[in-house]
Amino acid sequence: MKKTLLFLFIATALTLAACNSSVQPQTIATLAPVPDEYAGKTNPLGTDAVSAGAAVFKTNCEVCHGPQGHGDGPAGTSLDPAPKNLPELTKVATDDYLFWRISTGKDGTAMVAWKGILTDEQIWQIISYIHALE
Ligand code: HEC
Repeated sequence: MKKTLLFLFIATALTLAACNSSVQPQTIATLAPVPDEYAGKTNPLGTDAVSAGAAVFKTNCEVCHGPQGHGDGPAGTSLDPAPKNLPELTKVATDDYLFWRISTGKDGTAMVAWKGILTDEQIWQIISYIHALE
């Protein structure tokens, strides 16, 4: 009887451990909700904006986020938190989220607000571009 209980206990523990390991890293799993002002916005541009977006990205974002957006640009390596891996983020983040974050920046990080520096069109161009990154 004792052995059966012990077996059950171990089996339960193993099952729980297996479930836990499939939980996504917290940074990606818990994206902040998009504020009303930005919620539901969609990219008015298509894939033809990718090359324009590449140029804007190279000038303004690559220094921190790196050439492929992996968060490994020369100015990004010493930052805490490090710049986001953008191709990872776009797997889970919607375009309204990206537009909001790029426009208004992220408090407590080196990510500044680009609204006023870049036009809305340039920000959408970048969003088209980062969807093309892997
Ligand atoms: C000075 C370095 C720096 C520059 C330049 C920069 N970023 Fe960032 N970026 C960061 C950091 C740091 C974060 C925060 C990462 C985190 O919170 O985990 C971030 C976060 C982000 C995020 C994700 C925000 C989130 O929800 O976590 C996006 C999208 C982003 N940057 C896009 C851009 C784009 C597009 C540009 C160019 C217009 C740009 N960044 C320029 C440093 C930079």
